[in-house]
Amino acid sequence: MPLPAHDHDYFLELQTNTGWGRVLARFLAWCLPETPARVLDVGTGPGLAPVLAAQQGYTAVGADNDAVMLAQSLHPAVALAEGARLPFPAGAFDLALASNVLYLLPDPLPVLREMARVTAPGGRVAVLNPSEHMSVAAATALADERGLSGLARETLLNLAARAEASYRWDAEALADLFARAGLQMTATRTTMGPGLIRWGLAVAP
Ligand SMILES: C[S@@+](CC[C@H](N)C(=O)[O-])C[C@H]1O[C@@H](n2cnc3c(N)ncnc32)[C@H](O)[C@@H]1O
Repeated sequence: MPLPAHDHDYFLELQTNTGWGRVLARFLAWCLPETPARVLDVGTGPGLAPVLAAQQGYTAVGADNDAVMLAQSLHPAVALAEGARLPFPAGAFDLALASNVLYLLPDPLPVLREMARVTAPGGRVAVLNPSEHMSVAAATALADERGLSGLARETLLNLAARAEASYRWDAEALADLFARAGLQMTATRTTMGPGLIRWGLAVAP
């Protein structure tokens, strides 16, 4: 079954009118360093993460390889860029994050390596992806339990279907992915119901 394509309006609605915005806000609260700091959001979509970071006093930039997505960005500072070729010098950021992006890529390693390159020594790289617990069955059960309908339900089930077709990382596999990008994972945790989403945090050498 082909998976649905998504456009700017879909992700804007998702980031601003469903619980996903709260998921992003909690992830940011977990991974943001102390201010002042420079934050890069790779695969930013409509740009909610850099908006939330900027509201808290960070210098925030979003990057995405979809020009249509960026043309209507919520955040003014955005770069049209492929995640594996970011237009920033080495060490330009104190935190590089990617939410709901790496698991979609056929090979996430070049993007993670690039995020590591643009992160200053001792800085942070943070990722949010489906965990090993994510599946269509688990997402359906959670959506039923929470009485989700409309876009919120559709999104969760789409995310699960995409995850089943691509990557779902457990702690060990995520630590290994970070290590292959030259990063040491310092923390990971699952969230969302029975732990359908995994956050990971690493330190740049
Ligand atoms: C599922 S959306 C996630 C948006 C946002 N990070 C969030 O969590 O709501 C994935 C985003 O990553 C972008 N993207 C996908 N592959 C990319 C790549 N190789 N380089 C840069 N951006 C990419 C897409 O254009 C899209 O905006």
